[in-house]
Formats: sequence, structure tokens, C-alpha cells
Amino acid sequence: MTRSHSPALFDAPGDEQHRRIVDAINDHGWTEQDNFFPPDLTLALALECAELATAGMLTLALVGQGAARSLQPDVRGDRIQWVEAGQSEARDRYLAIMEMLRIALNRGLFLGLDEYESHFACYAPGASYQRHRDQFLDDDSRTVSAIVYLNADWLPEHGGALRLHPEGLSTRDISPVGSRLAVFLSADMLHEVLPATRDRMSLTGWFRRRS
Ligand code: OGA
Ligand code: MN
Repeated sequence: MTRSHSPALFDAPGDEQHRRIVDAINDHGWTEQDNFFPPDLTLALALECAELATAGMLTLALVGQGAARSLQPDVRGDRIQWVEAGQSEARDRYLAIMEMLRIALNRGLFLGLDEYESHFACYAPGASYQRHRDQFLDDDSRTVSAIVYLNADWLPEHGGALRLHPEGLSTRDISPVGSRLAVFLSADMLHEVLPATRDRMSLTGWFRRRS
């Protein structure tokens, strides 16, 4: 039998997973979901990220915005490359999955999200990202943060957790296990990336409202 599905439809997380994400964001502003990507997609994206790193095509990320953007590797130690449509089949599959999540978030939460921006990120061993929020002081367009991890065989002792600091509650650590999705409201959630003992790869992105 030939498959007539587009890759996007074939990859789609079920409505059930979208509903769980919407309910959790509505209820407490964050969620983690395992197996958000099919294994072959996570593998393909991990290979692309590793190849970019090897080729020296990931650049040290900047902190802040506008004229105040600066390199502060002690504050933020990841190397990144922005994702654009048409760069590779795997990246296009990723963007299609995130587009379906955008539509589900809009349907369920009326957030009026109309764009998605994202980059590969690789933290070398020991690199971290100190406690911060994702929304800029002078630009509130980043509304929902979404990170998908690309790390095969990640164990808790490798470190590298995303540590959430939900207001008034105890911290919550999310280990960067391959195919796992972390989502939270960009304006509200204080969070940090803890150092790891091995390379830590992800696709990190933000659903935005047009500002
Ligand atoms: C970020 C960030 C979290 C993570 O890039 O702003 O907080 O788990 N990333 O990689
Ligand atoms: Mn962040």
C-alpha cells in the first residue's frame, strides 16, 4: 500500500496529546510530554545538530535584546543556529509538527499565536543558562516556549535538567530526554538550564503573537 499522507499528517501527535498539553498549560502554565516526536525524526534532527556543531556552524548565543544584546557565556553557554523552512526535510517535518501545536494551542487557549521561531541549541559539558524568563522587557511577543530534546540515552546522572521555578511552588526538573517536549508560558515561568556532563542538544522555540 502506498502512503498518501503528507509527512506532516503522518508525524502528527494525536489530538489526545494536544489536549493534554492545552489542559496542563491552562491549569498550571507548563507541561512535559514524552515521545512528542517519532524516533526517526529525533534521530535525524540530532544528527543534523551534531553535524552543525562539528562544522563550526553553531554560534554562541546572545543574551538580551536590541542594542543590549551581548555575549555572556557565564550567563548563557549554548551555541545555536536558527531554523528556517526549506533547510532540510527533517527541519520541515519539525516545523510542521510545531505548526499543528500552534493551531491546537490557539483553539484550546485563544492565545492568538501567529508565528513560531526556533533554533538548534547545543550546550557543551559544563555549559548552562542561568535563571531567566523568555519574554523580553520591551517586547511581549514571545508567549509560549517549546523545547524538544534530541539526546539519545540520556540518564539522570548526565545532569542538564531544565529547572522550572513555578511561582510559589517547589522547583521541577525536566531531564532532556530525546523526543521529550517541554512547554511553558514565556512571560511567567522562571527557569534555568543546569550543566551536563555530555553535549546537550535541543530545538528551542517560541510561539509569538505579532507585536
Ligand atoms: C532557552 C531555554 C531551556 C532548555 O533557550 O531560553 O531556557 O531546556 N532553554 O534548553
Ligand atoms: Mn529560556
